[in-house]
Amino acid sequence: MAFTPDNELELQFPAEYIPLDVKQQLHPDVHLRPLASTDYWRGHLDVLKVLTVVTDPGEEAWLDQFRAIKAAANTYYSIVMVDKNTDRIIGVGTVFVERKFLRGLGNVGHIEDIAVDERQQGKKLGLRVIQALTSISENSGCYKTILNCSDKNIPFYQKCGYQKKENEMAKYA
Ligand code: ACO
Repeated sequence: MAFTPDNELELQFPAEYIPLDVKQQLHPDVHLRPLASTDYWRGHLDVLKVLTVVTDPGEEAWLDQFRAIKAAANTYYSIVMVDKNTDRIIGVGTVFVERKFLRGLGNVGHIEDIAVDERQQGKKLGLRVIQALTSISENSGCYKTILNCSDKNIPFYQKCGYQKKENEMAKYA
């Protein structure tokens, strides 16, 4: 499939929010951009499968979710890395901006759902996804950016400049 440039896509947020210096450090065959309304067909869910169980909801429901995320202005920023040779997605990540009443009505960025295609891991794509999301978070006025991860991934996030703080608690329904 031929590579689709940003101006031919419906993007979740403006492409300019992704810092140029991060894009410039990518291999010329890799493009970093916001999630697009047609990414269901570029393997968006396949990449997420390296992270956890993903049930395919079908294109229509996927698109409803895309539109709901897009409608929540200045809140979700979902980015994807695309292999320009195949137009397939090879990496994904999201930052969610939480608005608080404390810290002078401060914002906190929550990094979620980071995944790199198994065949593409170890090429600094994960690092670039985290750098881009952290910049978006900081440019959105977040005084901190946080995430949860397994012990196995702690060294990766340390390489991305993050430090271990406190504990995660969870209660599944
Ligand atoms: N242990 C030690 N070091 C690591 C690890 C690890 N598990 N993973 C990456 N690193 C190091 C790399 O060696 C590299 O170090 P260097 O700069 O010294 O060379 C640095 O971290 C950057 O690594 P990348 O090449 O950018 O990592 P990659 O592109 O493979 O992405 C990721 C890392 C996202 C964890 C990927 O392996 C992946 O998709 N794993 C499966 C899904 C997953 O666990 N996602 C994270 C869930 S947590 C969340 O979503 C908030």
